[in-house]
Formats: sequence, C-alpha cells, structure tokens
Amino acid sequence: MSSCFLLCLLSLAFFQGAVWAEQRKLSPENLLVITVATEETDGYLRFMRTAREFNYTVKVLGLGEEWKGGDVARTVGGGQKVRWLKKEVQKHSEKTELVIMFVDSYDVIFASGPEELLSKFSRMGHKVIFSAEGFCWPDQRLASKYPEVRTGKRYLNSGGFIGYAPEISAIVQQWKYKDSDDDQLFYTRIYLDKTHRTKFNMTLDHRSRIFQNLNGAVDEVVLKFERAKVRARNVAYDTLPVVIHGNGPTKLQLNYLGNYVPTAWTYETGCGICDDDVLFFSEDEQMPLVYVAVFIEHATPFMEEFLERLSTLNYPKTRIRLFIHNNVVYHERHIQKFWERHRSLFPDARVVGPEENLKEDEARTMAVEVCKKDPECDYYFSIDSDVALTNPDILRILIEENKSVIAPMLSKHGKLWSNFWGALSPEGYYSRSEDYIEIVQGKRVGLWNVPYITQAYLIKGSMLRTKLSQVSLYMDEGGMDADMVFCRSIRDQGVFMYVSNRDEFGRLVASSNFNTSRLHPDMWQIFDNPVDWKEKYVHENYSKIFEDEKKYVEQPCPDVYWFPAFSDKMCDHMVETMEDHGEWSGGTHKDERLAGGYENVPTVDIHMNQIGFEKEWLKFLKDYISPVTEKLYPGYYPRAQAIMNFVVRYRPDEQPLLRPHHDSSTFTINIALNRKDIDYEGGGCRFLRYDCKVESPRKGWSFMHPGRLTHYHEGLRVTKGTRYIMVSFVDP
Ligand SMILES: *[C@@H]1O[C@H](CO)[C@@H](O)[C@H](O)[C@H]1NC(C)=O
Ligand SMILES: *[C@@H]1O[C@H](CO)[C@@H](O)[C@H](O)[C@H]1NC(C)=O
Ligand SMILES: *[C@@H]1O[C@H](CO)[C@@H](O)[C@H](O)[C@H]1NC(C)=O
Ligand SMILES: *[C@@H]1O[C@H](CO)[C@@H](O)[C@H](O)[C@H]1NC(C)=O
Ligand SMILES: *[C@@H]1O[C@H](CO)[C@@H](O)[C@H](O)[C@H]1NC(C)=O
Repeated sequence: MSSCFLLCLLSLAFFQGAVWAEQRKLSPENLLVITVATEETDGYLRFMRTAREFNYTVKVLGLGEEWKGGDVARTVGGGQKVRWLKKEVQKHSEKTELVIMFVDSYDVIFASGPEELLSKFSRMGHKVIFSAEGFCWPDQRLASKYPEVRTGKRYLNSGGFIGYAPEISAIVQQWKYKDSDDDQLFYTRIYLDKTHRTKFNMTLDHRSRIFQNLNGAVDEVVLKFERAKVRARNVAYDTLPVVIHGNGPTKLQLNYLGNYVPTAWTYETGCGICDDDVLFFSEDEQMPLVYVAVFIEHATPFMEEFLERLSTLNYPKTRIRLFIHNNVVYHERHIQKFWERHRSLFPDARVVGPEENLKEDEARTMAVEVCKKDPECDYYFSIDSDVALTNPDILRILIEENKSVIAPMLSKHGKLWSNFWGALSPEGYYSRSEDYIEIVQGKRVGLWNVPYITQAYLIKGSMLRTKLSQVSLYMDEGGMDADMVFCRSIRDQGVFMYVSNRDEFGRLVASSNFNTSRLHPDMWQIFDNPVDWKEKYVHENYSKIFEDEKKYVEQPCPDVYWFPAFSDKMCDHMVETMEDHGEWSGGTHKDERLAGGYENVPTVDIHMNQIGFEKEWLKFLKDYISPVTEKLYPGYYPRAQAIMNFVVRYRPDEQPLLRPHHDSSTFTINIALNRKDIDYEGGGCRFLRYDCKVESPRKGWSFMHPGRLTHYHEGLRVTKGTRYIMVSFVDP
C-alpha cells in the first residue's frame, strides 16, 4: 500500500505537470479576434458594441467589399470568408504564442471578456476548438463520420473557432476553392480527417463552454439575472458561454439576448441599452426634416384631440411635412375643423380623403415613397389615429435615440395590450416574450430590439433610401396586413426595430366600441378609454379637490357643497345630445315616479336611459362623484346607485321654476350645464330651511346636498333664455 501511495502520488504529480505545461498563461495581448463584414449592418454594430464593452480588439475583414459568399442564411456559401482569413492569418503563422479567434459578426455577440475566454480556451487543452451544434450541415451524409460524444453537441459549426496561430494558419492555408463554396464544409472535412484532427489537435466545444450556437439550442439558453448583472447561461450543460451566435433561424432570439447582453443591465438604474450614442441638437441648429404621416383607417374616438396634438408637437412646424390619409367619412368634419384652425402651421400638408378610395397598404406606400424620394427627408414618422401621443417632445426624443427604426412604447391604459411584440411565433405571429409584461409595465426600462412594432414609429430617411430602397414595405402579394408586411420587410433586411420605454409617450385608444351614429359618441367612451374621457369631459380642476379641498370645494349653504365636475365640453355635449334627442317630457311619466314612491315634482326633462346613457352615467357617479362624497361626508360610502338621472330644462315660457320640494335621495347632485347671463337670466337654487340662495350657478360645477328632510329646496325662476341642469338622485 505504501509503495502504491508513493507511486500514485508520483504519477499524479507527473500528470498534473503535463496538464499545466499545456495550460499556458495567456493574456489579452496574445489574442487576435478576426471577423468578416462587408457592411456595417445593425448586427455588425451590435457586435462591435459588445466587443468594445469587453475590451476586445477586433480585426474586421471585408468592410466595403462586395459580398460574393452567397446567401449563407439560406444556402451554402461563405468561402469568401476563408479566402480573406487565409490572407490575414498568413502574417501570423509563426507566432506560437498568439491565439486567433474567428467569429461571424452580424449574428454574434460577446457575453464575456478576453480573460475569461483565454482561460477557458487554455483549460480545454486543445490547440484548435470549433463551435458545435446539433445539426450536421451542409452535408448530412457526413454525420456518421463524426466521433461520438457522450454529452453535448456533436457537429461542427464554423461561425466561431479559436486556436493557436500556427495551427489556424495551417488549416486555412488549405483553402483553394471558390468564394461561393461552403466554408463550413471545408472545415468539417479537415476535422473529420483523423490525421488532420490529431495533427492540429482539433476539438469541438461540445458543451458550449466558449461558443453558444443558438440553432437547436434556444431552450437551453436562459438569462440569469443577478443583482446588478445579467448573463446568458446554458442550462443543459451548466456553462456560461463567451460568444453567442444566433445562427440559422435564431436571429430573433439573439436580438432578445442582445437586449441584455453584454450591458450590465441593472434594476437599480433600470436601463437596458441606454448608453448608446445619442444625437443632440443645439438651439440654433436646423432640426431634421420629418415627414409625418397620419393614418385614419377606421372610426376612432377622440379624433379632435388626436388632431389637435399634431399642432402642439414641440417641434418646429417648418421642419414637418404633414400627410393625412383619412379613410373614414365620419371623420371628415374633424379634419375640416382641424384644417380651418391650423392650415397655416402646415402649409405643405397633403390630405387624402375617403373619396380617393385608397387602400391602407396603398396609402402607407404612397406616404413613405414621398420621403424615400426626397433626399431632404431626414425622418419618416408614421402614426395611426388610435394613438394618443401625450408627450409633445416625442419627435425630438426618438430622433435623439439615433436608431434606424424606433417606436415609442404605447399601451392601452391599465392593460397589457401594446404596440409591440416581444417575440414571434414560428408562424410569424404574436408570441409573448419573457420580459413583455415588465416592459409594458415599465419595470424594465430601455431600448428593446423587438420583432414587431406598429401604430407609431420613426424611420431614418437614409435607411429608406439605402437598405430599404428596393423593398416594398407595406404591400404583399399574399394579401397580408400592412403592419405584418412592414415588420417582416424590416426584419428580412437585417434592420433592427426598437421600442423605447425610456420615456412616457402616450397610450393606445380603443376603438372597437365606437358608435358614430350618436351625436357625440366620445361621451360613451368612459369604459373603453377612461383617461381620454377624463381629459375631455371632466373639469380640469376636479382632481384638485383631493389636493386642496379648501380652494376647490365651496360650501355656499350649510351642508351644500359646490365643486367643479364637468368640463365645458361635457356640458355642451350633454345639452346638444338632449336637444338632438328632443322628446322633453310633458309630464306623462311623472305618474310613474309617483307610482314608484317618488315625489311628484314635475319637470321638463330627459332621462339618461332615454338617450342610452344610463350605464355610462352610473360609471361617472362611481368614478367621480363617490370619491367626493366620501371625502365630504366622512363615514358615508355611497353605493352610487341612482335611479333618477335627468337633464332639466327651465324656460320662461315652458317651466321657469320648480316649487319647493324634497328629493327622494340620500343626496342629490345638480350640475349647471350652461352659463348664467350668457345663456339665461335668473335661475339658481334656494334652501328654505336656511334661507340660503345660490343665485349664480357656475357652468360645470355641481351642487351636492342631502336629499331628504333637511334640504327642502326650490329652483328659482329663469327670466330669460334657457337653463339646463343635470340632476341625479343618488342612493334613493
Ligand atoms: C476596459 O478597459 C477600460 C480601460 O482600460 C477599463 O476601465 C474597463 O474596466 C475595461 N472593461 C472591462 C469589461 O474589462
Ligand atoms: C491534443 O489533444 C489531446 C486530447 O485529445 C490532449 O490530450 C493533448 O494533450 C493535446 N495536445 C497536444 C499538444 O497534442
Ligand atoms: C448615429 O448612428 C450611426 C449608426 O447608425 C452612427 O454612425 C453615428 O455616429 C451615430 N451618431 C451619433 C451622433 O452618435
Ligand atoms: C349606436 O347608437 C344608436 C343611437 O344613436 C343606437 O340606436 C344603437 O343601438 C347603437 N349601437 C350599438 C351597437 O350600441
Ligand atoms: C382651475 O383653477 C385655476 C385656479 O387654480 C383657474 O385659474 C382656472 O381657470 C380653473 N379652470 C377652470 C376651467 O375653471
């Protein structure tokens, strides 16, 4: 046993010594990274950004040269790469200390730095290491010739390899084929030749210690979030690859990983790729010329507000060329009105109306072609009518991001529905990415490379005139929708589409329940578009009630509160809707009220249910009146049920006043819908018990007072004109 002990120890020491001899200590100065790119595509720029981040020095071959290596994404090819490489590495063939790594660039990112790379390379104990994948390409007949592996991927991929300069050089010097011949086949043949394999001490990185090919391995690769960093990990082999290659059909997965790698994305700063080059403009500099194209393809709520926002964009209007495609007859009135007000702002605008019968894809093509053909057009901004752009600085912000194609992140209020997709299904439709919800909810903030954007986006004019010049961006033989065609065309050109949630830009407007047969259909949008509804129809000082009650709530009589409720527009739309409906009551339904146990206080009125507004009105009570009640009558939680909701009309020749009465309610609200001394004279309300009068009601302001017993009141005589009030008996 003791002799074995010595012997074993000795042999162990010997074995370790041999391994150590093989493991040279390599430093980044010993490393040469070589890549090939004929064009500075978005993918190339991303690759170089990751290289910069990790301090790699990269030798780029082929920039500016014509690519003759075939369409390697779809067919064989790539021989040109080897020819260039052959020439380059020849210079280094004697340098035994030099390590050369070759990687593709368009679909590759670095996930770690040179120290880790070299240490892994050296530990793997071979002179030449090629990346591995699960597919035998391009000649499947060679599959059986590969050595068996116990775990890991068996076949060679030539998108990435690393080795000592003399061996790499010796390998590529064997190249004597055409530019369009296949590089992977060339390397594969050498590897499968046992003599060569041994001579060059070649192996494959079966378990993705260095190279991760994503094709066939997408599910093996996950992002591992640590407190301040994120790293892609291969969970099948428990490795942390250094080079990630989105080969084959996995470009979108690489784009997804590229949103996080290599940037040390942090929860703390909450920013993905925010440190990119950003454009800045000085005060006196001429701003870029932006072609703004508006598409109204279907009836959309809040169209006046949408159009008005175009005029309040914080961007010199002289640098905007406006195009509007309106496909909806109903909206012609809104365009007309907008036009009358703002024609002078947009002198060169062009409006294509519904009479021109242009289909959506034709209209979009027409608009984008104008920018494409005008060398002065710096940017093309496309926006659909169902986008509420509330950030007037949007153009400036998006331009500053300096991306070829970028969309502002927009979602429906409080919903997960947005204007981008984080991932694509194999059929090319929506698929939810892991981080979709975080991005929509603003829990992860940044610029995100995504496969689909819609409704609002900015494209660089130069991109339209170069890479996209020959592309039909919106029209498709197969009749696919314009938005799908657009995104597919952009993706196919290898152009990255970004969505930004670094700023708040606005929201999407829901238009599916929009009923244009009503006079003012926006009034009915309180459910579908609550934020737009509030902005349009609720008094601008309503919310301030909750911040500064003393200033915004008055108490003109004991227990009678008075506060801002409706906007002017709400008052006007309500009155116009009632007058349009007509059928003011002549007293016939008063008996019903009596039968229902209510007081018989006849008024000339129209009820909410007569105009089909009951549901909406109750929603208004719940969302806007209940909170005021809770604040003013602490301890009382209204159910916000109201049986009687109606607009009353007072006129000297019809019904000028209302005799003293109680209301059959817990409390009553009473909102003045028009303006004293302009629309009518006289009027007001008197509370008899306190002998307290309010003689100057304010348009849009609401009274709120207890209904029964204490607040016996009367409506004062209207002496001239017509007065309208909205009355609601709450919690009868
Ligand atoms: C890259 O180099 C710079 C300057 O030499 C250094 O400050 C930085 O930490 C390096 N980055 C990495 C990831 O090693
Ligand atoms: C070559 O590869 C083998 C493993 O296949 C390894 O044992 C050997 O040390 C390597 N190095 C040389 C110089 O042959
Ligand atoms: C904007 O991006 C382009 C690449 O798309 C780059 O060449 C240019 O330098 C960037 N501009 C600035 C000011 O960073
Ligand atoms: C649309 O509004 C009209 C009244 O203007 C109404 O008769 C009709 O029922 C409404 N349609 C829908 C689907 O609500
Ligand atoms: C809202 O309140 C401010 C004073 O705080 C006032 O100047 C403004 O006119 C009010 N708005 C309306 C619509 O009454």
